Amino acid sequence: MTGHNSARLRYHFEPQKGWLNDPNGLVWYRGQYHAFFQHNPYAAQWGSMHWGHAVSNDLIHWTELPLALTPSKRYDKRGCYSGSAVEKDGSLWLFYTGVDMFGRQTQCLAISNDGVTFTKHAGNPIVKAPRDTSAKDFRDPKVTKFGNAYHMVVGGGKGRVGKVLHYRSTDLLCWDYVGVLLAGRAYGKVIECPDLFPLSSGCCLIFSVMNTAPGTPATRFFFGEFDGDTFTVRNHHSPARGPDFYAPQTFMDGKGRQILLAWFSNWKRAAPKGALYAGAFTIPMEIRYTDGKLTLYPVDEVRPLLTQTDPAVTATANRMLPPNGLCYDGDIDRIDVLRDGKAAEVFINGGEAAFFWRG
Ligand code: FRU
Repeated sequence: MTGHNSARLRYHFEPQKGWLNDPNGLVWYRGQYHAFFQHNPYAAQWGSMHWGHAVSNDLIHWTELPLALTPSKRYDKRGCYSGSAVEKDGSLWLFYTGVDMFGRQTQCLAISNDGVTFTKHAGNPIVKAPRDTSAKDFRDPKVTKFGNAYHMVVGGGKGRVGKVLHYRSTDLLCWDYVGVLLAGRAYGKVIECPDLFPLSSGCCLIFSVMNTAPGTPATRFFFGEFDGDTFTVRNHHSPARGPDFYAPQTFMDGKGRQILLAWFSNWKRAAPKGALYAGAFTIPMEIRYTDGKLTLYPVDEVRPLLTQTDPAVTATANRMLPPNGLCYDGDIDRIDVLRDGKAAEVFINGGEAAFFWRG
């Protein structure tokens, strides 16, 4: 391959070569952080979707490992799309969307005993699209344990109504369809990358919305109650303001922190001509619910890298203007900036609002 990129980011994971979009299968496994990602290993543009794989000890420095999933089966020939990871009895289980040659999407499973080599389950696919969604828009399984049961949320849509579909299992293999957890035209025609997880006294539901108008947050954050069947929204507040923030996923680490990483880019941002690689993760952030607000703030490991000012950020006591025509209006007590070359992340008031741009 010939080509070039400007300097690599120092604190954000980028693939050695090829394309990266969503973080997938984030998990704390055998004392290390594992992050998989939507990956086209052949070019710095979206294409044949594999799962790339990287590990880290400190959430800042990452080592890329061999590909974890490659499209190879009838049910995933056209791609191994986004999904999540669960540790069970010492093994690592990956749940992903297989896309077949007709574009039909199903949920599939691959298991590893060493965290490096994954074997696709003989009984794949494990979940097929219910009537509530189009079979071509049924993707991004996120599995989380609540009490004794595993719950899976999947993104979908039908008739221009975006939906979060909900499944339950006790063994991770047989999944019962519980129903539509949340749906609405306001969420576009397809909901992508839903994530449902316990947080402080309640539960949080996050998902991304395709083709949002410029300036509108592409990722929605809801806080509420989940009783195992239904999710009741108590409030919603999107701390992440973009523009380079999409498809976040969370996981709980060994210290009990709920950590979030997102794709530090967006679908409209093309790689520069001749680039060898494209796409990065955002900095890992802790997501919290305090005083009725969801906050996103860099994990402790990253704090020494934060500064309170940046030449590109203009702020007064009640207005902050990062580049890119963005604006924050409201009381500002504190600003933290993570600057990495041309890229920057700005956190206001301990993460009540967070701005992401690649410069
Ligand atoms: C979100 C997304 C997912 C899909 C993946 C494909 O960015 O469109 O819905 O699984 O990317 O790469």
